[in-house]
Amino acid sequence: MALLKLSSAICSSAFALGVAPSLPHAASTSSRSLSWKRSSPFHGALPSTVSSPSGLPSSVVAPRASQATGVSAEAENLNEKYGTEGVKVQSGEGGLTKVVLSGRDGSEAEVYLYGGCVTSWKAAGGKDLLFVRPDAVFTGKKPISGGLPHCFPQFGPGVIQQHGFARNVTWDIASTQNDGGSPTLVLGLKPSDYSRSIWNYEFSVTFKIVLGEKKLTTEMVVENTDTKSFSFTTALHSYFRADVSKTSVTGLKGCKRLDKPYEDPANPVEGSEDRNVIEFPGFVDTMYMNTPNVLVLDNGLGEKLSIRNEGWTDAVLWNPYLTMEACYKDFVCVENAQLSPVELQPGQSWTAKQSLSLGYMVN
Ligand SMILES: *[C@@H]1O[C@H](CO)[C@@H](O)[C@H](O)[C@H]1NC(C)=O
Repeated sequence: MALLKLSSAICSSAFALGVAPSLPHAASTSSRSLSWKRSSPFHGALPSTVSSPSGLPSSVVAPRASQATGVSAEAENLNEKYGTEGVKVQSGEGGLTKVVLSGRDGSEAEVYLYGGCVTSWKAAGGKDLLFVRPDAVFTGKKPISGGLPHCFPQFGPGVIQQHGFARNVTWDIASTQNDGGSPTLVLGLKPSDYSRSIWNYEFSVTFKIVLGEKKLTTEMVVENTDTKSFSFTTALHSYFRADVSKTSVTGLKGCKRLDKPYEDPANPVEGSEDRNVIEFPGFVDTMYMNTPNVLVLDNGLGEKLSIRNEGWTDAVLWNPYLTMEACYKDFVCVENAQLSPVELQPGQSWTAKQSLSLGYMVN
């Protein structure tokens, strides 16, 4: 029962365990682990949740919000303004506005304005390569648990709420285009009263999503539009559909790692990765520092994805194992991250690209 309650609590919260505080690259090993411990004494603490009589959170028991039937006026207006070849604005789950990108070759991606979250990416004729958790809700009040959610302006727990606010607010469409058959959507995030109440800075974030043939590219640009400097950490908390018993990640051998044991998440263990091929036999929550530009994910379902990055300095692997009994077998998180704080002076900007490509079909 205790475990069930635990799993309910985690499952109904967004990314309760897939988190970590920032840690400055420049710090020495000892002060790094000290500052880690100081800044995350309650990393293992779980948010409270309302459980149904069955002990499962209501979001698990209740069916997922059904597809809205009509198209909202907002989606219609946005589509009139921004719709173009291969880019359509529609009403998605829970009536939330989504943008559907469709390639001439039959590939497809979906992006919710709420959270600026890519929730689906399919190569032509293929299944979804991303994963949305079955307990995800589409209410616009709670971050969407799945796809490629943003953790900004703070990756883990810390001075402001865990994972920041970018995943919990509605982004704007900045522009759309279709160059040479690659549907492109640029989202924008600007400060609001809500964001200022959490993080009192003026900023501009753009997130560009380009759907290519067997390829999905994103580019995030953070600009300081304030008159004072600010610093942030961030990640794309990427959920990939997988058969966790057969999935693996390569490319991290030799990287410095910080491993959060399930039994004692407040005391991460530092080490160096000596495996060439990393599998997911149980609970995994590990941060890797100064990672190479390409990681390869074998999703165990016959697909290999290369995860290429420019500007993202770090990576995080996460699988919640039994803490999310209902779904842990079906996904793995491989996140490009910027774990050490980036400081931007007024007028400065930071850019990071992630490019997901489907290598080849095994079957
Ligand atoms: C998301 O935003 C709502 C307000 O719309 C707020 O009540 C809630 O606490 C936020 N949740 C998270 C996890 O940020």
